[in-house]
Amino acid sequence: MDNLNNKKILLIICGGIAAYKSLEIIRLLKKNNVIIKTILTKSGAEFVTPLSITSLSQSKVYQDLFSIENEAEMDHISLSRWADLILIAPATANTISKLANGNSDDLASTVTLASNKKIFIAPAMNVRMWDHRSTKDNIAKLKTYSYKLIGPKIGDMACGEYGEGKMSEPIEIVKELENYFKNLKKNNKLRAIVTAGPTNEYIDPVRFITNKSSGKQGYEIAKSLLKKGFDTTLISGPTNLEVNNDINLIKVETAEEMFQATLNSLPADVAVFSAAVGDYKVKKTSKEKIKKVDNLNLELEKNVDILNYISNHNSLRPKLVIGFAAETNNLEKYANKKLNEKNCDWIIANDVSNKKIGFNSDFNEVLIFYKNNDTEKLKYKPKSEISDEVVEKIINHLN
Ligand code: CTP
Repeated sequence: MDNLNNKKILLIICGGIAAYKSLEIIRLLKKNNVIIKTILTKSGAEFVTPLSITSLSQSKVYQDLFSIENEAEMDHISLSRWADLILIAPATANTISKLANGNSDDLASTVTLASNKKIFIAPAMNVRMWDHRSTKDNIAKLKTYSYKLIGPKIGDMACGEYGEGKMSEPIEIVKELENYFKNLKKNNKLRAIVTAGPTNEYIDPVRFITNKSSGKQGYEIAKSLLKKGFDTTLISGPTNLEVNNDINLIKVETAEEMFQATLNSLPADVAVFSAAVGDYKVKKTSKEKIKKVDNLNLELEKNVDILNYISNHNSLRPKLVIGFAAETNNLEKYANKKLNEKNCDWIIANDVSNKKIGFNSDFNEVLIFYKNNDTEKLKYKPKSEISDEVVEKIINHLN
């Protein structure tokens, strides 16, 4: 497993009988030349000792949030920045709940909350706890925060019951981590551009015409691309969303600014046009605030179609061009029309008449229309998972 060589992994061990398996995870990671630091929660220490962890990992075990010794050596923020990746194994229902709700009352939750890295969780708990709606809701929430779940598995439990909730085997967990680094390496040189959010087309200094768009799906796609190692540029209209500093974020307001920023960001291997770009702009924006009148007539003219321009350009066109279509009716007909008219490779379409999905929701359900007439449905799930799946398809296509 060469891809693990010299990687820095922060392992967080929570309380649960599966904690003994964490020692095997450490052994396997060390065998593959991983540099490990460990955080042991208070209840984790009831199951495994710091001494056994240190003996295997050959490094210090961090246990307290407020420790002079720790802070002098490596404070909790540095600890979260140090790692290439964080693995929480076993992740208990309690820790999952804390993370889903942003609690940070111990070192493990504080470091995780402060992290800007990929976080993997390997849950381990009783089947009833795993099946409980609160755990399901917490897991769904963590997925929208881009946490990656490993397991759990179905099987006999230490408590004597049978069902889903067993921690995945150490070798499976380590293979997932190696896969993550392998993908990062493979896609390192690929460049991606994503447009997202609405645009504002000004009428006067205080008024504008805009579109309904939260930008969430586009931001999630940019995050998924980054996770897979793409050099990612996100060109965003006004939204309330934030992204990791590793994404090259270009904030724009108007369609014209979005167009210029897109041109400046090329070349790219893939471009995903998820922005709800204003189709029209006001022909003559007033420099002064327009005073109220009975009838205000605005003359509108068409904005440049960014997707259309780029996808029909001989030298600028990325290898893979993906457009979006938000429709309230005739989804298939209109999506296919856009696919052909805008010369896209794929159109990702969603039905925005359904209130549960699309606009402003953290969940979505989409249909992908391909140039070769194939169609694929990605069922209702968090936008982060839809994005992960779309990016997996992008990688397959580019490879
Ligand atoms: N798009 C773009 N630049 C524009 C307009 C749209 O890049 N000026 C892109 C969007 O980012 C999206 C796709 O084109 O990928 C959407 O197509 P569009 O024709 O704008 O959709 P609608 O406005 O919904 O079109 P219509 O009113 O014809 O349904």
